[in-house]
Amino acid sequence: MASLTFLFLMLCPYAGAYASTDDVRARPAPPSPISRRGLPSVGFYNPTSGGGDWLTQVQDTYPPGQGEPINVVISGDSQSAVLQNQELDGGLLNYFISFGYSTECLGQHQGAPQAANLGDGLGYVNQTAEIRWDYGNPQLGTCQETIEGGSHFRYWSQNGAKANSNAVFMAASYELPETDQHNIVFDGYNLGRDWLVGNVTNQSKIIDTAKLNNASSYTGQTSYDGYTYETTAKYYWGYLPNTSYAVNHNGSVANATINAVDGWLAVLSVKIVSQPAATSDARISWSIPSWQTLCLPLAVMLFAHTVAVSLSI
Ligand SMILES: *[C@@H]1O[C@H](CO)[C@@H](O)[C@H](O)[C@H]1NC(C)=O
Ligand SMILES: *[C@@H]1O[C@H](CO)[C@@H](O)[C@H](O)[C@H]1NC(C)=O
Ligand SMILES: *[C@@H]1O[C@H](CO)[C@@H](O)[C@H](O)[C@H]1NC(C)=O
Ligand SMILES: *[C@@H]1O[C@H](CO)[C@@H](O)[C@H](O)[C@H]1NC(C)=O
Ligand SMILES: *[C@@H]1O[C@H](CO)[C@@H](O)[C@H](O)[C@H]1NC(C)=O
Ligand SMILES: *[C@@H]1O[C@H](CO)[C@@H](O)[C@H](O)[C@H]1NC(C)=O
Ligand SMILES: *[C@@H]1O[C@H](CO)[C@@H](O)[C@H](O)[C@H]1NC(C)=O
Repeated sequence: MASLTFLFLMLCPYAGAYASTDDVRARPAPPSPISRRGLPSVGFYNPTSGGGDWLTQVQDTYPPGQGEPINVVISGDSQSAVLQNQELDGGLLNYFISFGYSTECLGQHQGAPQAANLGDGLGYVNQTAEIRWDYGNPQLGTCQETIEGGSHFRYWSQNGAKANSNAVFMAASYELPETDQHNIVFDGYNLGRDWLVGNVTNQSKIIDTAKLNNASSYTGQTSYDGYTYETTAKYYWGYLPNTSYAVNHNGSVANATINAVDGWLAVLSVKIVSQPAATSDARISWSIPSWQTLCLPLAVMLFAHTVAVSLSI
């Protein structure tokens, strides 16, 4: 069924850029118990230990060489189903929707991808995808975000052989509307991180960025498509620099008292606390967001084909 779903995605005319899955390198075999044993308790390997960086690589910045901060990590100690880059079985894309973010407007990505070096031996790798706040509408809300600006993040998996944690590294920010050429709002990297953390832990109040400390921790639940996730977010000091130097848009996101990157990293540990009693392939293929309504006939056809194939076995 997985290959059929893939075929479906390939055939679907709007799936083109959702097939940011195209960018996703084949996942290596699951890490052996031995390499897992070396995993630091925080649930990821520090990219800088392997020659990587907490700043992404952005094309054509002025001055050249500026990047955006990777400011949220989904720990590799999270439930492994959540770390899979798929919407099936409560995977990462379903998790993103559960806290209000989904794939870009009809998969039409605008702008150049950013690259990150997570110190896992793969060097700089383009983002897996860019995910946007969906205004409460996983199907079309991201179109609104594209036009009006708002919260978004890019993400990468740390899964190269040198540091195979399966942790997901995210560069979150809050950008101005398209008319302002998608600049980031003042303090937009730090605020974007904390609004994401507020959403992913289902807080009723916005997290106060200025009051973060070593004891900051938030826990809450979110759900989508029958899966309920519990996320604990903890803030860590010492991974990211507290700086504006070499940070993209540093002229407009920072001032003399607030740095573009405030030095805090949010680490999320995620588990699935409830899930559908029985998941059938059919139910899952109907839950694919964004373009499902546009490709229903195709889905029906493929589903019929699947049934035919399974009956003939
Ligand atoms: C990243 O994407 C850019 C633009 O699509 C492309 O030119 C570049 O080759 C890609 N880099 C890698 C390492 O795939
Ligand atoms: C959730 O995210 C939205 C969009 O970024 C933001 O406006 C809102 O304040 C966030 N909620 C919390 C509790 O942080
Ligand atoms: C956080 O705690 C570490 C020690 O655990 C300490 O070195 C660091 O100064 C603290 N950072 C802040 C901003 O409080
Ligand atoms: C999120 O929090 C609200 C209360 O603020 C609650 O009603 C809702 O059930 C929570 N969502 C989940 C999935 O627990
Ligand atoms: C922004 O970063 C550049 C280096 O990329 C540095 O020369 C400049 O001083 C920084 N500007 C601010 C306001 O921090
Ligand atoms: C920097 O911005 C913050 C928030 O707007 C403000 O409180 C602070 O006074 C500003 N600092 C300077 C030096 O302008
Ligand atoms: C980060 O740097 C700013 C600007 O220099 C400073 O005001 C702030 O106290 C620093 N934050 C911490 C937690 O040390």
